[in-house]
This record gives sequence, C-alpha cells and structure tokens, in this order.
Amino acid sequence: MKKQSPTSRETEPAPTAVFGRTAQLDLDTPPPDLYGRPRRDRFMHAVTTFGEVYTPALGRRLLRRNPRLPAPRSRAPLSLVVTGHRAVAEQVLELRLADPAGDALPAWQPGAHLRLTLPSGRERHYSLCGDPADRAVYRIAVRRIADGGGGSREIHDELHLGARLTVRRPRNGFAFCGEPRVLLLAGGIGITPLLPMAREAQRRGLDWQLVHTGRDAASMPFAEELLALAPDRVTLLADSTAGVPTGAELLARARPGTAVYCCGPTPMLAAVQDAFDASPATALHYERFGAAPILDGRPFALRLGAGGETLSVPADRSALDVLREARPDLPYSCHQGFCGTCRVRVLDGTPEHRDRRLTAEERASGALLPCVSRAAEGTTLVLEV
Ligand code: FES
Repeated sequence: MKKQSPTSRETEPAPTAVFGRTAQLDLDTPPPDLYGRPRRDRFMHAVTTFGEVYTPALGRRLLRRNPRLPAPRSRAPLSLVVTGHRAVAEQVLELRLADPAGDALPAWQPGAHLRLTLPSGRERHYSLCGDPADRAVYRIAVRRIADGGGGSREIHDELHLGARLTVRRPRNGFAFCGEPRVLLLAGGIGITPLLPMAREAQRRGLDWQLVHTGRDAASMPFAEELLALAPDRVTLLADSTAGVPTGAELLARARPGTAVYCCGPTPMLAAVQDAFDASPATALHYERFGAAPILDGRPFALRLGAGGETLSVPADRSALDVLREARPDLPYSCHQGFCGTCRVRVLDGTPEHRDRRLTAEERASGALLPCVSRAAEGTTLVLEV
C-alpha cells in the first residue's frame, strides 16, 4: 500500500474565512403598501416578536430536556467551573471542567483541545483526555513545568475546586480517522489526546495498539485506565528500566496498513519520523507539544524600539526565547506559531514569517509571531515591545 506523507497536526484549523460583505436587510421596516406608502404590518410584527422572543427560549428548554439534541452552534467562549482536581501521576494534575448550571458541554472528537484563559490572563492549550460521550465534563491533564512560563504552575497551585475559567470551545487539529489498523504512540503527557483515540478504537472494534513511553512509571498518567481498557493492546515503556526507545522500536508494532498517531516531545517525533519510511506503516499523524524545531535557522538580531537594546538571536534559538530574557512578561502559549499569543509589531526590517496564523494583511501591517518567525542572516528587526 502506498505511504501517505506524514500529516502534521501542529496547527489549529485555519482561521474561519472572512466572507464578503452581505446585503443588509431592514427587518424593522415593513414593505410599502400597494401605493408605495410605508406601513406597519401589526400582524407580521407580532409574529416576528413572538419568534424572536420565544423560539430561542423554547430551544433552550428542549435542549435541557433532551441532551442528545445538538446544541446551537456558537463560537462564544465558555465559562466553566473546576469540578475535579486530582493528581494522576507525578507532577501531573487532572482537571474536570463543567458548566456551572449543569448544561451539556459542546461536543468534541478524539484529538480535540481546549484553550484556557487562566485567571492571570495567560492562555494555554490542553488536549481533552476524557470521553466524548460524557457531555457533562471536560477532562484535561497538565504536567507541571517548573521552569516554564508559569501557566502549568498557576494551574497546579492556584486553580482550586470551584474556580471559574474562560475556555474556548473544543477545536481539533489532530483528528482521529479511525483506520482499521492503528498504532498510537505517546510520549509522557502526550498520552492525553491518544487516550480518547484508544477508547474510540476499542469502541469501534479496530485493530489497535498503544505504546506509552515516559521517564519512569510514576510519571506516566492514566496507566490504569489504559490497561483496564484492553491490557493486551497497551505497552508501557519506562526509560528508567527499558532505556529510551528508538523510532524503529516504537514502530515495531506497525504492520502493513497501519496508521500511526504520535504525540510527544520533539525528539520522539523526530525519531518516529526518521524511522517511518522503513516501517510497514502507511500513514503518520502527529501532534507535537513544546516548541517546534528550528529548521534552517540563521543568526539575526532584534532591536527593542528604534533606539533600544539590540539582542542577538543565534541560529538554534527562537526570537521569542531571546526576547523573553529581556522582556520576561511577554505572553506566549503554543510555541508553534498557531495561537497568536506572542504577537509583536515590527517597526523596521523584513521578517521571515514561519507561522500559519497571521493573514497577509496582518503581516503587511507589521505583525510577527516571534516563537517561530525569524529574519535573514545578519539582518535586524526593530520591534515595538
Ligand atoms: S506562542 Fe503561540 S503563536 Fe507564538
């Protein structure tokens, strides 16, 4: 069977297209009468008012009575409350989030993630690791990163039961296609999007295997849940006893026709990508956490304001990393050029845009995402920061 080129799921779906201006209908003014005179049609006005006021209310009531009815489509963020808070591995906390009124949450599919706005204003993305059939609660798991940007520490230390959070509705950049033969490869906390995929594969009766690697057994969340699902399909590999597996070892369970789903740190993804062509697997879907690798990086410089300090960006570091040494409060989230959190403005110089977030208009107006974007060797970008 022909191999499919690897499909990266590092990015969110493209921003919703902006449609052209639509004709404005004036619904408040009734059509003119036979003689072209404006008139107020009382009957139509009463019908319209009834529809506007009572139809949404009726819809909400029906939805509450029958949670299987689809929720009205909305893009408004959700305001959720923390209803569960428990350690699921060393330095890994599972949070359960629910609607404060107990309403059904928007549906999602395995591979989807949430964007949380924390009380400090930091924004962070986390994969949903619960069961999509459970519309009462969202589950996420967060590993504490002691030397990270503070988001995971805030969640571990300050998000207690009853805390309120603004959460963007689930989005999926790592969809599970449900191929008949599936190999799921998880590194550490990368198990989170793969756990719902394993459940779905089991539910559908697919031929599936899951390999979860981690530093040691205590650091690997959800082992019991996985083994309870299908003990003969799950392999746990602790680096402390088995060593760090190579890409070929991770792919050893792949057979002809296998679709591989991989989520983990950059070295693991790189190992799997390198070994993929020599394996009998036919498709590779992956999601990375942590910073995207710098490909073909060249050194350049940043200047902070027109007459400000100049910072050197080496070939192997991101502009964001260097910037944050001088501006530790600069916000960021994904480190991969898709969330837009780290946006800064270029006052002078020519950037090499490497993100998949900004529109041509935003780039033309000076926007830059320094977590991935760079500049030509030896040039300087003057930033408004
Ligand atoms: S941190 Fe997400 S785009 Fe830069």
